[in-house]
This record gives sequence, structure tokens and C-alpha cells, in this order.
Amino acid sequence: HEGQDGRSVKQRLLVVANRLPVSAVRRGEESWSLEISAGGLVSALLGVKEFEARWIGWAGVNVPDEIGRRALAKALAEKRCIPVFLDEEIVHQYYNGYCNNILWPLFHYLGLPQEDRLATTRSFQSQFDAYKRANQMFADVVNEHYEEGDVVWCHDYHLMFLPKCLKEYNSKMKVGWFLHTPFPSSEIHRTLPSRSELLRSVLAADLVGFHTYDYARHFVSACTRILGFEGTPEGVEDQGKLTRVAAFPIGIDSDRFTRAVELPQVQSHIKDLKERFAGRKVCIALIIFTYFTYYLHSAYHYALELSYDDDLTAAFTRSHPPLLVGTALTAVMLGVDRLDMIKGIPQKILAFEKFLEENPTWRDKVVLLQIAVPTRTDVSEYQKLTSQVHEIVGRINGRFGTLTAVPIHHLDRSLDFHALCALYAVTDVAIVTSLRDGMNLVSYEFVACQEEKKGVLILSEFAGAAQSLGAGALLVNPWNVTEVANSIGYALNMPADEREKRHRHNFAHVTTHTAQDWAETFVSELNDTIVEAQLRTRQ
Ligand code: G6P
Repeated sequence: HEGQDGRSVKQRLLVVANRLPVSAVRRGEESWSLEISAGGLVSALLGVKEFEARWIGWAGVNVPDEIGRRALAKALAEKRCIPVFLDEEIVHQYYNGYCNNILWPLFHYLGLPQEDRLATTRSFQSQFDAYKRANQMFADVVNEHYEEGDVVWCHDYHLMFLPKCLKEYNSKMKVGWFLHTPFPSSEIHRTLPSRSELLRSVLAADLVGFHTYDYARHFVSACTRILGFEGTPEGVEDQGKLTRVAAFPIGIDSDRFTRAVELPQVQSHIKDLKERFAGRKVCIALIIFTYFTYYLHSAYHYALELSYDDDLTAAFTRSHPPLLVGTALTAVMLGVDRLDMIKGIPQKILAFEKFLEENPTWRDKVVLLQIAVPTRTDVSEYQKLTSQVHEIVGRINGRFGTLTAVPIHHLDRSLDFHALCALYAVTDVAIVTSLRDGMNLVSYEFVACQEEKKGVLILSEFAGAAQSLGAGALLVNPWNVTEVANSIGYALNMPADEREKRHRHNFAHVTTHTAQDWAETFVSELNDTIVEAQLRTRQ
């Protein structure tokens, strides 16, 4: 793009998402501290150098006073963020209610809320009204900051009403909309009382994007079956107006992860973790060797020296063949999820229990680390899930734990980026058992950190990532506890050459289909779509 002086200028991109990539904490009447939170979308757009991106969204805090709002807006401006202020009532109805209690479960095939049906039916309309009001508030802020030539990119199920509001302000605005969740089969979408209004609003955009071809196909079917519009290879057409619909699978900023693993602070985390898990091995070794005092000295020496890697058993076995022949390795399995019902955390833990039940020799040699990041804690379904997970973890640890070790380490919190990378790097088997998931970038992040270890990925066939990492991962149906338990056994015993081959496939994909490519492809497709539409109208 050329500026007035003929020099090239970057195209401005207004990214509109429910949540800003910043967490804000109030320190005083006019003072805020901000921290950039690096979720999937954030790292995607941070890596894009082609555009000058600004973010518009909710800062996640209630700011009732004008002084606080002005101060927050000023602080955010330095991070190129523009806030949309939502009061508590609207957050309750729009975010907790319509977005997270209705659209989110429905789009993940969990259906409309089952419990207290009458109350849900009664509150449905008021929640939908709040949803539309909130979307209008986002549109007002976009309109205030919009300049001619800007591209406006709306994100996710929170903002399905936004494309329509924006086009009502200015029909020439370039508007794209992208869904980060699955779009369900049209038969599921049909059950939603506001099904038609939402589809029509999304179709006001110039380009509509999904992670996978299947989600795009479901959306087009919903438009043809519910609205009676025409589905074409390009998208959806109504009375000569075409909305382009396509798949744009997201990726991660893979360099950020591969580089992080090399950093001294991450290496030191890795060393700590190896020692911690090796400590368990030391402990086991010492108990065995107490009975064999003849070996004690050399065993202790070995246990201290050994590094936590695949050579552990080999080294022990070399030194003490009579004692450890046939002993398997100690292995770390890892799950990292938001504590959300779509992630299938209870199903994963039950499969792990079944594996321990059927494989007694593994009981003191494998540990499952489950990082469950709390999310949407005001929604009652999420509160129930937290108790359910705690109950299952407690039961299994009680059943299979010993005085010195438990099989499941469950943490209800997030980890900082470096600690997370270290954990990914020392993991033998990562396990993602989402019941449905738009893409699932944890699986990508794990792969990016595994160049040394070449661990195994067990991946739900219902995650969007299964379509890209399917040939490298062990795909499972998370509802089938037996199948997942068998896959755990297969993964833990997988020969090195098979692990290497599978890892190569995944690593090549993750490092070549990056978040930056995703964002660039979407925006250039949006620009092209608009040029084509202009050519069509001129003809
Ligand atoms: C999913 C959604 C995002 C959302 C994120 C975290 O990935 O697609 O739009 O931001 O979950 O959820 P939260 O409700 O905390 O924003």
C-alpha cells in the first residue's frame, strides 16, 4: 500500500475480539498495571509484520468510573489496544450467559443447557438481547477508530452479530470474521432459537473463515438448509451477494517455542524437572538396593549421576544386570488444558486409571502431570467440573499412590511461558483428549518443544489439529476409555525409530504452517475478495 508521499505504508488491521490480549489490574484511581497474555491468537498476530495491528476488546475488568476508564484507555493505547467497557450486568448476560452457557457448549456438540430448561428458556431472550447490545458496543468502538482502507477482522463466537453492525455503519468497510471453535453440523445449529439471525449477521462479512474444511462445510449447509441460500464452491450466495467462506487452519509462532527451549532459564527448568523426576527413580533404586548392600555404593553413585533420559534404564541395566533387567523407564505424561468440559479431562484421567489398572508394572514408573488452567469460573458448569476432576484425581491417587509418589499431579493454575516450555520438553507422552476442539494449539506447542526428545502425541480425533497432525500423532476417540488406555501403553512402549518418524512429520507441519502465515493468508484473501467483488459489480 502506498501512502500520500508514494512511500509504502503498512495496512492497518483492526483486530476485534471479545478479550484484549492484556490482563489489567487496577493499582490506584488512575493507575493500572498491564500484562500481555500470550494465547494462541495473540502470538499469531504478534508475529505478523505485514500489518499495523490494533486490538479492540474487553479488558476483562469492570471499570464503573470515568477516571478509571480514561486511565485504562491511556495505558492500553501504549500497547495498541483499545478497550470496550462492559458493565457487570452485560458481562453476566452476554459473556457468562449467551456466549459461554449457550453458544460455546452448542458449538462443541454438548447441546443447549439441559438443566433447568424452563429457566434457560426464559432467560434465553434476555441473554440474546444482551449479546446483540454488547456486539453493538464493540461496533461503536470500531466505528470510532476506523479509517478508510483499514481491514476489520472480527474473531470468534462472541462477535457473530458484529459484521452486520459494522456494515450498517459503513457498507464499504472491509470485514472478515473468523471462528476459533468448531462450527457444528447444521442439525445442531438448527436447535438454536436465534439460528437465522446469527447466520445472517455473519454473512454480512466479506470473508468468513474456519479452522477446517468440515467446519466451513457445516456453516454453508446451515445457510442453505436454514436460510434457503445457495451454497457455491466459493461460499454462500443470496440474491447475487456472495459471502466467501473458506478454511484457514491456524498455527503457532513455532520459532518462539523452539528458541525458548534453548534459553538458559528454560534449560535450568529442564534440569530441575529432570532431577525431580529422576529423584523418584533414585528413591526406587535405593529401596531396591537396601536389600542388596553389596550394590549399594555403586547404585547410589549411578542414581546421582544419571540424567533423566531414555538411557536411564539402559545405564542401570548395564551396571546391575541381575537387578534391573526388564525394568521399564520412568515416563512423564502431560496434559495442558483450560479447565473446560470440552477438553475431556475426566475422560483422560479415567483412561489413565484404566491403564494403571491393567499395567501394574507401570504404576510406579509413569506420572501424569495435568495442568488445568481455571477459566470462566462464574459459570456453574465450570464450577461443577472443577469438583468432579478433583474427586476423580483424589480417588485414583488414593488407589494407586504410595507413601513416596502419586500417579497424577494435578495443578489448577497456569504456568509461565518458560516453565511450560520446559515441561513440554521433558515430556514423553502428551495427551490431548478434547471432546471437541476448534484446533488445539497445545498439541502444536508440545511438538515444537520436542526436537530433542521426540515424544509421542496422543490426540483426540475431534480436535481440529487431528486433520494436520493425524499422521504423526496417535489418534483416539476420547469417549472410548479402553482405546485411550491402550494408546497410552502403545505410546509409552513405542520404539525410538517410530517416535522419530512420527515426530518428524508433526514438527515439519508445525514449523511450516505458522500463526503468521495464517494471519497473512486470511487478510490477503480478504483484500482479494473485496477486489473481486468490486470487479463483479462493475461487469
Ligand atoms: C477459546 C475461545 C477464545 C477465548 C479462550 C479463553 O479459545 O475460542 O475466544 O478467548 O477460549 O476463554 P475466555 O472465556 O477466558 O476468554
